[in-house]
Amino acid sequence: MRTWSLSFEDCNELDDRIYKLRVVNCIASTGRCMSGKVAKTLATMTVTRPRIVPNKYFTSHVAKDVWSLTNEAAAAAANNANNSGRELINLGQGFFSYSPPKFAISEAQKAVDIPLVNQYSPTRGRPSLIQSLIKLYSPFYNTQLKPENVTVTTGANEGILASLMGIINPGDEVIVFEPFFDQYIPNIELLGGKVVYVPINPPKGIDERVVKGTEWTIDYEQFANSITGKTKAVIINTPHNPIGKVFTREELTTIGNICVKNNVVIISDEVYEHLYFTDSFSRIATLSPEIGQLTLSVGSAGKSFAATGWRIGWVVSLNPELLSYVAKAHTRICFSSPSPLQEAVANSINDALEINYFEQMRQEYTRKYEIFTSVFDELGLPYTVPEGTYFILVDFSKVKIPEDYPYPEELSDKAKDFRISHWLINELGVVAIPPTEFYIKEHEKAAENLLRFAVCKDDQYLEKAVERLRLLKKFL
Ligand SMILES: Cc1ncc(COP(=O)(O)O)c(C=O)c1O
Repeated sequence: MRTWSLSFEDCNELDDRIYKLRVVNCIASTGRCMSGKVAKTLATMTVTRPRIVPNKYFTSHVAKDVWSLTNEAAAAAANNANNSGRELINLGQGFFSYSPPKFAISEAQKAVDIPLVNQYSPTRGRPSLIQSLIKLYSPFYNTQLKPENVTVTTGANEGILASLMGIINPGDEVIVFEPFFDQYIPNIELLGGKVVYVPINPPKGIDERVVKGTEWTIDYEQFANSITGKTKAVIINTPHNPIGKVFTREELTTIGNICVKNNVVIISDEVYEHLYFTDSFSRIATLSPEIGQLTLSVGSAGKSFAATGWRIGWVVSLNPELLSYVAKAHTRICFSSPSPLQEAVANSINDALEINYFEQMRQEYTRKYEIFTSVFDELGLPYTVPEGTYFILVDFSKVKIPEDYPYPEELSDKAKDFRISHWLINELGVVAIPPTEFYIKEHEKAAENLLRFAVCKDDQYLEKAVERLRLLKKFL
């Protein structure tokens, strides 16, 4: 029997309940395409729109996220009078403009060629990746880790979600330092948890001088006082997105000891662990045995191998019981993570250790920052010296934007940095992220003059960015 599968396009809404579909293609089970290559209208049909009630969280949080807003603004501005004929320089979202290292690409290609590697992996991760992670982390943890200390996730995002899902019950509180990576908040709230914000205070004079990451500080008394009987966990992020701060051993010890005193789980987001430009990088889990027992440390192959689309991450913990709850949540979220890419990461870690790749990457990033910060030094625009990550926060207080500059309606309830970002896209064709997205409304003043630029781009691209940003001179 011959069956037909129809494909539709062009939803032509008649009212909010009924819409018309145009049948553009009709493919027989034999593979024969009825309409040929060119889509054409074969028939129209009227369909009643179903009534769908989404999760309440999504109906009460309808504001567009910063990534969509910025990408849409960039697309709209690409061909305006200022930008037509010149390339838009996108330093917004943290995706790499260049390929993963050759060895990693070759490992991915080899992996898909092995038949069994294309099938499900064990839920906690492929044995090969677990062994590579043990090899990578045991020296940092100063102990021989075992498979029970590692679980593989689908990117660090899922690692953080699984960590929270493994331990949070409705009504539990989770402390988040502000500014925060935006994904943490829905992850906590969708589980019925309550977010408690503790600021990382910006240094005085941030609008006048180049400042250091260490000058962004936490008031530890405020942190300790924000812990209640309901506090279940704290999320820390080092190296920190968007500040570029690498928390010192002393800072982490203070945070860790407060958590130990109050039995608070530490979720340490260390996705930029190989991108630090300080003498060393401290891992909170290693600072005392008691802190280690409370800590889940999250890593990402995407950041380590310039492969953010591979979606491989992991959680490491010295406490197998604590980690087992994360693994249970991971099993229910997605069961297991992409096998060929796990295999590729397993072998890439081994290759990287052999050729000292992570050290080379740090050196490359030191050069990238030298290229990029030169324009801000030239213009006298203050910034926070990046100690880690591939981001830099720059203060735009000195840039004079016309008072009557026209902005779209959707920015009217946003902080000033959204308007600075919009202006920069439209006038200079340079895309940067407004960092108040990483703050709650009440605290966004702290970052309203800042923009975050991502430097995970090839050197030539950064040189073009520098050239373009020089145009800021006439607005100072
Ligand atoms: C601080 C931080 N944590 C987690 C993630 C998510 O990492 P992944 O791409 O591995 O899910 C990112 C990605 O931008 C990040 O900046």
